[in-house]
Amino acid sequence: MLGSFVYDNPTRLYFGEDSLKALAGELSKYGPVVQLICGGGSIKRNGIYDQVCAVLKEAGKTIVEDAGVMPNPTIGKVREGAKIARESGADLLLAVGGGSCCDYAKAVAASAFCDEDPWDRYYVRNMGIASGQRVLPVGCVLTMAGTGSEMNGTAVITNPETRQKLGHKFGPQGFPRFAILNPVFTYSLPAWQLSAGIFDIFCHICEQYFSGTDDNTSDYISEGLMRSVIHAGRIAVKNPTDYEARSNLMWAATWALNTLLGLGKTGDWMVHKFGQSIGAFTDATHGMTLSCVTLPYYRRMLPHGTAKYRRFAEVVWNVDPAGRDDTAVALEGLARMEAWMREIGVVLSAAELGVTEAMLDDLSENVIILEKASYKALDRAGVREILAEALRA
Ligand code: NZQ
Ligand code: ZN
Repeated sequence: MLGSFVYDNPTRLYFGEDSLKALAGELSKYGPVVQLICGGGSIKRNGIYDQVCAVLKEAGKTIVEDAGVMPNPTIGKVREGAKIARESGADLLLAVGGGSCCDYAKAVAASAFCDEDPWDRYYVRNMGIASGQRVLPVGCVLTMAGTGSEMNGTAVITNPETRQKLGHKFGPQGFPRFAILNPVFTYSLPAWQLSAGIFDIFCHICEQYFSGTDDNTSDYISEGLMRSVIHAGRIAVKNPTDYEARSNLMWAATWALNTLLGLGKTGDWMVHKFGQSIGAFTDATHGMTLSCVTLPYYRRMLPHGTAKYRRFAEVVWNVDPAGRDDTAVALEGLARMEAWMREIGVVLSAAELGVTEAMLDDLSENVIILEKASYKALDRAGVREILAEALRA
């Protein structure tokens, strides 16, 4: 491998069926006020809320509830959460939910004592946390596997007024201090969210895999992770309470985006740029905004990175290359990937997410083009063609 890097991940993970037991020990490190961050009510229905509150009460904490974090959290909600944190004197932000709650908690943590408007500073100007500024500690109890937010310093926030959905990397201060990963907590996920999460994991690995031509350890790790996600994904959609499949998905999700795989690589991330644009216009489920553009984008990249797509076909999808040229092998890999996507039930047409022909111009303009992306940088016309193809699928 050719890149140089520093590796440091400050998040402590507790994994397994009994992992919530570790919460009490973590709570003892922080002051008495806990801002309990949760979404639209799933944790109240499936009992996780009661389990977490029991630990908080036993530890003598004052619970300040900050509920209603929406999927694709908005900057308006972040501003509200920052105000709650300041006014309540929160000592710890505890996110109990999926990537949206974790991302929101990280954004609130960095915004509560920020002297400027957080959207402007972190998302428009892409500036880091000001030197000396207080950042609140974040802990996560994860209920959905997908984003990897539980072990990274990124928070993706949407501004519905400007139709922008953007990520910001807050650096080491933005990582959760701890994350509790109990695969059983994901059993109650609706099928649609399970499928979206599985694809999000797979896509994160692909975004880092499809880049560079050097012999890179990261690619070998990625291939192993992808094989695990394909296998576990198939089982989990058929049997949502299969512990082994759920635990493998949860662990793979963390490793897919806890910064390890991207080290020493350029990375691609164009599928996520398409997905963020679709998300900003439709508020659609994150994983589905990725699945609908992936195949049109990869088919377009394939001629420029044929060797990697061929390797993907052989190693990840077990395509037998005998008697076929590189392109044919590579295409067979994408065909098998498409069959798997249908099997796990992800969306292959942008129309299903509410994208229309009339939106295409604005949607295309809104996609951030990464010049150093994969094997060939797109131009604006190429972006539009991929979105049009995603609409026709
Ligand atoms: O709102 P609640 O009631 O919690 O319900 C959620 C939500 O409706 C539900 N859910 C979660 N766990 C459940 C459950 N329902 C029943 N049982 C459970 N155990 O599922 C729905 C989706 O939850 P959400 O947190 O929005 O999903 P996800 O984890 O996919 O997070 C998506 C957000 O993360 C961002 C996305 O853009 C999106 O805003 N991402 C964050 C990344 C990061 N921090 O590195 C990277 C990703 O690429 C992604 O962009
Ligand atoms: Zn993602």
